[in-house]
Amino acid sequence: MPADPLLAELLSEDGRRDPYPCYARLHERGPVVALGSTDRFAALVCGYEAAGAVLRDPDFGVLDAGYLDRGSPRWREHPVMRILQASVFNTSGEDHARVRRLFSHAMSAAQVAELEPMIGRLTDQRLDRLAAAARGGEPVDFMAGFAVPLPSDVIGELLGVPAADRAGLLPLVRVFDAVLELGQHSFARIRAANAAGLQLEEYFTALLAARRRQPRDDLISALARVRDEKPDELSEAELLANLIVVFNAGFRTTANLFGNGLALLAGHPDALAALRADESLAPACVEEMLRYDPPVHFSVRCAAADTEIAGVPVGQGQLVLVLTGAANRDPRRFADPDTFDPAREDNHHLAFSIGPHYCLGAILGRAEARIAFPRLIERFPELALASRPPERRALMLRGYDRLPVRLMQLVGAGR
Ligand code: HEM
Repeated sequence: MPADPLLAELLSEDGRRDPYPCYARLHERGPVVALGSTDRFAALVCGYEAAGAVLRDPDFGVLDAGYLDRGSPRWREHPVMRILQASVFNTSGEDHARVRRLFSHAMSAAQVAELEPMIGRLTDQRLDRLAAAARGGEPVDFMAGFAVPLPSDVIGELLGVPAADRAGLLPLVRVFDAVLELGQHSFARIRAANAAGLQLEEYFTALLAARRRQPRDDLISALARVRDEKPDELSEAELLANLIVVFNAGFRTTANLFGNGLALLAGHPDALAALRADESLAPACVEEMLRYDPPVHFSVRCAAADTEIAGVPVGQGQLVLVLTGAANRDPRRFADPDTFDPAREDNHHLAFSIGPHYCLGAILGRAEARIAFPRLIERFPELALASRPPERRALMLRGYDRLPVRLMQLVGAGR
């Protein structure tokens, strides 16, 4: 239980359900809030400038293997930790840059532009299925029917995960990802994440072997080739771990952008009508969804040396909690931060983080949302929540488990 009352409140059930009142009170305490020596973190960073400065600062690193070795030397016994720690998320310096380079090419603006027709086609296929399920005016679950399967299809196509396997992987990914949430985890949750990690490792090991035997035009085959031709560029453990986390990160976040974004549109009929009238507003509207209600609310960083943030001292080896979800609502940076305003200008939020660990899939995630939202609302001229959705309870991968919607479609619609 955190000693600081605001951190305790943020991590309480109410705080996780709706963190924004906590963020507003944190902003009143300043851009950086020092915590006492009994808290896990030396400071909470909620100000926009301060959060950006920490995330860019090479003196604040991710919690890499060296960090874990100092405090929890048995972490390698946990498959979920082995995978996460071998991935770009938790490596630093040269190792991080080397592996990030290999993946970033596939997610560059030029590559994503080539993927756009595929994204449009997959969107229309999902919309057809959603329309069939919604026929007769029955409520449909937007998460299960669209928000989750569309981005998992997109990342599946990019990596080369066969369509028939994707649905079976989704529950494993959810259980695996649960340990990323902020706070204490039960043994049961860790055990389940370890079991899911082993199954994901087994699955991707077999897929890699299949692609080595018979390469295809996909990222798994391309990376297997890099590994085999230039073994110093990528170890087998790095290859496997990054395939697993890129598959996970590729759809868990984007699915929540779809769900959180749709709920926002349903609650803001003017924004919905404006987007329906002019689809060129989609990119700005997606940016505001990401700022206002992002799928990821925090990053954790560790100080490599004694330092300070906005005058708050942080000792070497101490952790800071960077609340990007709060930074996106910083009244010193965003006018009227608690208003959802798709026409907002200069909307450089931190939903994709910033600095060396800036989201590798930001261009892809944005493209998916920019393509899918206009098609969705064109296809369904009436679109509303069918009932109050279940509360969201996570600060990491924050989104709806179910989002019941009622969709009225145009007769004979489709592009
Ligand atoms: C709306 C969608 C998305 C959001 C909100 C999001 C958010 C984020 C955030 C906040 C980080 C930084 C974590 C940190 O600083 O510790 C991150 C990193 C990352 N994201 Fe995303 N992401 C999204 C989509 C994607 C997609 C589509 C992919 C893959 C295709 C992806 C792959 C990654 C990877 C590999 C990293 C680690 C980068 C590194 O550590 O160098 N993300 N993402």
